Amino acid sequence: MKGKTVFFCTECGNETAKWQGRCPACGAWNTLSEEPAAGKSTGSKSSHNVTPVALSQVSFTSEERILTGIHEFDRVLGGGIVVGSLVLVGGDPGIGKSTLLLQVCRELSDKKSILYVSGEESARQIKMRADRLGNFSDGVKLLSETSLDAVEDALRQFTPDIMIIDSIQTMSRDDISSAPGSVSQVRESTNTLLHIAKDRNITVFIVGHVTKDGQVAGPRMLEHMVDTVLYFEGEQSANYRILRAVKNRFGSTDEIGVFEMKTDGLREVANPSEYMLQGRPLGEPGSVVAPAVEGSRAILVEIQALVCKSSFQIPRRTAAGADYNRMNLLMAVLEKRLGTELAWCDAYLNVAGGMRVTEPALDLCIVTAILSSFRNKALNEKTVCFGEVGLTGEIRGVNYAAQRIREAEKLGFERCIMPAVQVKELAKEHPNIELIGVSSVKDLNAIISKS
Ligand code: TYD
Ligand code: MG
Repeated sequence: MKGKTVFFCTECGNETAKWQGRCPACGAWNTLSEEPAAGKSTGSKSSHNVTPVALSQVSFTSEERILTGIHEFDRVLGGGIVVGSLVLVGGDPGIGKSTLLLQVCRELSDKKSILYVSGEESARQIKMRADRLGNFSDGVKLLSETSLDAVEDALRQFTPDIMIIDSIQTMSRDDISSAPGSVSQVRESTNTLLHIAKDRNITVFIVGHVTKDGQVAGPRMLEHMVDTVLYFEGEQSANYRILRAVKNRFGSTDEIGVFEMKTDGLREVANPSEYMLQGRPLGEPGSVVAPAVEGSRAILVEIQALVCKSSFQIPRRTAAGADYNRMNLLMAVLEKRLGTELAWCDAYLNVAGGMRVTEPALDLCIVTAILSSFRNKALNEKTVCFGEVGLTGEIRGVNYAAQRIREAEKLGFERCIMPAVQVKELAKEHPNIELIGVSSVKDLNAIISKS
């Protein structure tokens, strides 16, 4: 006889008895998946002897933190790993999640006891990877296992300070009959790990794969259950990686960490702007330096444009690392407001270094790069620019302006083309850099023709 089954929403984890086209809890369409019912005891009320505590009576000691020595990692976590916290590390396959966590193990292996549970690789494979990263002391124990019950048994003999689960999609609990990676398995496994972390004060890192649309596979609830959600991202074609906190109960979500993937593991990039500007051509038309903001950190990137006469009926346009539609819109603004004849030109836009920038704050750089290439006039190499461009060609103020200017100053830039409305308030604080205010794309025209 077929066992009892229930339906779980893959978005929110809601459970229903019948299949429906739309999840009654979150309203998402076509997200219910059929899975065997977990053998939960229902109906009988057990008595719990619990007493609420007055908030004012709760004893409080500030959370204990472990510093890994990998500064970029510590910073993203808000100043080190919080003892007893549950951290989810999400990212595309092959981006370097296992490598990052193994490096964290290596840094802490002298001071802390660590259990690395891998459901994806054998102990031999992990050893091979570890050999690329350097020497490990005996503080790191490996377990190649997919059953969480077996992991719990192992924890009875040995209580580590830190446990790593690589990955949640391969783990399963014996009492739930659905396959690993299914909604109920992911939900219940995370629940078990939450109890392990909170009851025994073990810090647990959970690796989670990301689906095509960039979310950790499994219910969204997974993200609600953990204390911290980190995303590890990067372009397949580029070597740099960005670690970002999208949720953090113990720190801000504004910080990012930048790493570079080398043959011997991940290396911190202490100065991302310098890294992104490596090999920048000087005095070439079409090249503009833009202070982009990731989290709350400014990183200088080079935006390149190539505009040339088209030999096709319909001109070609491409945008790599920038928004294609935004590029078209900005070219339309130039055409209308400045009368620049771009309609018959091919245009290619590229953000060098493989970074992706989609902030409207960099509109002005895109416009400048396009104009610079079109006119074949190079912008001064010590100049950066930022600002949002509106549909009437006006230049609007942007957020994090001070951070952007400071970063440009730090890297030795001497001029900054920016929204005129923001010049006054920022000029006093930045005497070493010339702030050139523009209020419309028409002003920009004059600057490019001059330089
Ligand atoms: P990995 O940590 O296995 O990714 P994930 O766990 O996110 O799936 O990283 C895999 C990639 O990183 C793989 O393509 C090889 C590369 N790599 C290096 O370039 N250098 C190294 O030292 C290591 C360990 C991996
Ligand atoms: Mg892995």
